[in-house]
Parts: sequence; C-alpha cells; structure tokens
Amino acid sequence: METVLSIQNLTKRYGRLTAVNNLTLNVEKGSVFGILGPNGSGKTTTLGILLDVINKTSGDFTWFGAPPTKAVRKRIGAILETPIFYPYLSAAKNLEIVAEIKDAPKANIDPVLEKVELLDRRNDKFRTYSLGMKQRLSIASALICDPEVMILDEPTNGLDPQGIAEIRTLIQQIASEGKTIILASHLLDEVQKVCSHFCVLKKGTLLHSGSVDEIGKGPVTVEVDAVGEQIESVLKSWDKAIDVKLEDGYYQVKLTDGCTAQDLNVHLFDQGLIATHLLTQKKSLEKQFLELLAESENA
Ligand SMILES: Nc1ncnc2c1ncn2[C@@H]1O[C@H](COP(=O)(O)OP(=O)(O)OP(=O)(O)O)[C@@H](O)[C@H]1O
Ligand SMILES: [Mg+2]
Repeated sequence: METVLSIQNLTKRYGRLTAVNNLTLNVEKGSVFGILGPNGSGKTTTLGILLDVINKTSGDFTWFGAPPTKAVRKRIGAILETPIFYPYLSAAKNLEIVAEIKDAPKANIDPVLEKVELLDRRNDKFRTYSLGMKQRLSIASALICDPEVMILDEPTNGLDPQGIAEIRTLIQQIASEGKTIILASHLLDEVQKVCSHFCVLKKGTLLHSGSVDEIGKGPVTVEVDAVGEQIESVLKSWDKAIDVKLEDGYYQVKLTDGCTAQDLNVHLFDQGLIATHLLTQKKSLEKQFLELLAESENA
C-alpha cells in the first residue's frame, strides 16, 4: 500500500472555535475516500488546509510522503468552491484559460470535456449550462492537469437524482484510472456507493475511519414474523438472540455474531413455528453514521 496523504495531529482554530481538532488520518493510493460529517464539522476546513488555501494552527501533513510544496500541489486536482468561470465564454474557452493558469497543455481540453460528457457542448456559453453541466465542467477543469489525486467538496450539492448519478459514474470512472479521490459529502448513500473508505468528523474531531466494506460486518439483525402466539417467548428465550423488539408489526431480532437468518429460521421450526417473514437488515452507512454520532453524544 502506498500512502498518498498522511495527516498527523492537524488542528485549526478560529479564535475560541476549534474547526479541526487533532486530526490524524491516512489515505491510500487508489482509494476513494469519503469525509463525512454534519454541517460545520470541519470537512471544508480540512480540505482547505490540505490544498494550502487555509493556514493550519498546528500539526502536519504530507502528500506522497513529502511535505507540501508547489510541485506536489500540481499533482492534485481540486474543486473546493465552484470555480469561477466566465459566463459569456464557452466551456472550451474557459478551460483554455484554466489550462493557461495551471500550465497544462491545451491538448488536454477536448479529452477532459469528453470525459465529463460535454464535448458536444464545448462551444456553448457557460451561462447556458445547467447546474449539473457546470459541476461537470468544474471536474473537467480539475482534471486538466491530469492529477493523481482529486479533491471534491460536496460534488453533488444541489443536483437532481440524475445529476447525482452522472457525477457518481464520473467519480467511479476517474477512480478506475487509478487516481485517488478524496471527497467531502453529506450524502451517505452516495458515499456508500462510490467510496472504498470513509471517515466521520464531528466538531472537528475524528469519530471513525475505516473501509466501507466493513460496514456490513458484525452481528446482524433479522426482521421476523411467524404463525403462532408463542413467537415472542421463543425468540426471547433463545440464547442466540441478544435483543428482541417488536417494531412495525415485525420482531427485530439482533443475533449473536456469526448467527444468521437461517439459524433463526431453523430454531423457529424446531420450536414448531413457521416463519412467514424473514429479512436480514443490512446495515447501511447511514445507520452506522447515526450510531457513531449518537455514541459520541453519550461519551
Ligand atoms: N473563516 C472562518 N472564520 C471563523 N470560523 C470559521 C471560518 N471558516 C469556518 N469556520 C468554522 O469552522 C467550523 C468548520 O467549518 P467547515 O466549513 O469546515 O465545516 P464543514 O464540515 O465543511 O460544513 P458543511 O457541511 O456545512 O460544508 C464551523 O464551525 C465554521 O463556522
Ligand atoms: Mg463544507
């Protein structure tokens, strides 16, 4: 594993407010890393520090194993706020200006427009673009230097479901080229769909960091119903059931680690009950996220 970004004890204070609190985090090459957190949890501030547009208060970070320099910064493409494009210029002309500023070859313009599916609209003025097209043009402008890392802050903000799906496909496509992507988002479902890793921030503090694949692991909860009055007592007296609750007409049975819906079904059958409903509750990132936030309240 090659570490692309390593953050150690990063802190940012605005007066008495700590926007980023002693953050330590690693991002591996090729991963799609989602930064989650409620409004004001420090996502944009963190990304701003990593891009050298916000000064840190203390702590360190390295890109590609080296301290951040101008040369290193060129290997990173970013969209923090919607970049300023000239409304009366075409997409192609706007990207020409970006290429000039970033010292990128003009030959890159059409390929990146093609990548974000705007090649056929290259000569249309920016002001005539839809929000989704504007967002895709921002991504194109970040891709123009062919960066190894892409940083996106809320890339699907304000987009409709189709626009969101388009950006998702684009992110997956960019990731499949081996680029590392770091994105801040509110959309938990989106993060679960596109990210390989994620972290959760709250008030600048890291609550969790891990792989998205791990989310489904651990004890499962099975939603069940069966013919017969005794179901509740059968469930409650079963040593493999940690917790039994009746919710919306079904029993929610939390099983011990390693136990499955099938084990539950067999147990019911052995007790003379026939299950009429059996559904393993998949743990979503959303559930995990809310649990992490709730736990931090209680801590
Ligand atoms: N320039 C500033 N001066 C003072 N406080 C600031 C400044 N910029 C950010 N903050 C504060 O730092 C905290 C973190 O803000 P930040 O924008 O990083 O959060 P965020 O996680 O990106 O939120 P959102 O999800 O709303 O985009 C907030 O409490 C915010 O008010
Ligand atoms: Mg933000």
